[in-house]
Amino acid sequence: MSVMQLLVNTLGNATGLITVLICVIAALLHYFDDPDPVKYTSMAEDMKTLEEKFRQQNKSCFILGASGETGKMLLQELLERNIFSKITLIGRRQLTFEDKAYANLVQEVVDFEKLDDYAAAFQGHDVGYCCLGTTRAKAGTEGFIRVDHDYVLKSAELAKAGGSTQFHLESSRGADKNSNFLYLRVKGQVEAEIEAVGFDRYAIYRPGVLLVDRQESRPSEWLARKFFSALSAVSSTSMAISIQAVAKAMVANTLLQPEQKTEILENKAIASLGKSTGIKQDTK
Ligand SMILES: NC(=O)c1ccc[n+]([C@@H]2O[C@H](COP(=O)([O-])OP(=O)(O)OC[C@H]3O[C@@H](n4cnc5c(N)ncnc54)[C@H](OP(=O)(O)O)[C@@H]3O)[C@@H](O)[C@H]2O)c1
Repeated sequence: MSVMQLLVNTLGNATGLITVLICVIAALLHYFDDPDPVKYTSMAEDMKTLEEKFRQQNKSCFILGASGETGKMLLQELLERNIFSKITLIGRRQLTFEDKAYANLVQEVVDFEKLDDYAAAFQGHDVGYCCLGTTRAKAGTEGFIRVDHDYVLKSAELAKAGGSTQFHLESSRGADKNSNFLYLRVKGQVEAEIEAVGFDRYAIYRPGVLLVDRQESRPSEWLARKFFSALSAVSSTSMAISIQAVAKAMVANTLLQPEQKTEILENKAIASLGKSTGIKQDTK
């Protein structure tokens, strides 16, 4: 056998092996996939009616984490849909916007370490959205718990005391208060503790890996994003989702009236709601 033939054979075998490997991973992911969500087939046509009805109620909302990747998208979506008469951004710093569409936003700059002193910032909003969060790599273990648990829970309590009836929390796929993994445990704990706060309506969103071109460097997240983007070419997976789809789903879901007080939207349900409002899932 010539060297050339040997090379061709080896490459052929390697390609075959990689293809088999990808198919096995895709099959495994499919097996562990979220259950099929409720279908929102009529949503696209009903959206306009639902929006109009909601708009007429002159409701107000606040967003926590509006400077973050999902929060930015959520704010953009809320402004485009124009369903609230007032939108307040509650954050640790003043944000600047060039676009006129952002001119009427109210901003409340708070010290999250002394949130009780800023109770007034939370008063008078019907709906609260929370896209707040950090990572252990950025803030350390204690810092992560402080932000993703303490700040989030305290904000929810102040929102309830201030008159909010709805709270929408961006949590994470796999959140579980009994998990051995700190990230998932903290997410699960805060989910459960907010439920006890007793909003009339509480929606928990559990996205998988967020597909976003993040400016900040997060190597492990980047690797996961590339992996799931490649995988989505051969299999639909509930492990990843674009931030646009999450934002669209959060807004669309606000317009709906679910039967239960508390609802949990897993990744697939988020994608399904996002799609029903006309969004294509971006997995690049
Ligand atoms: N990344 C993922 O793949 C993934 C997957 C599933 C769920 N999630 C969860 O989804 C949520 C949103 O994620 P994201 O990636 O869109 O968020 P992000 O871009 O990291 O933004 C986080 C937001 O939280 C604020 N924040 C962070 N640390 C803070 C602190 N110490 N004090 C006050 N505010 C602070 C940031 O404000 P500044 O701009 O002032 O820093 C920003 O507005 C998070 O809870 C995250 O855990 C993420």
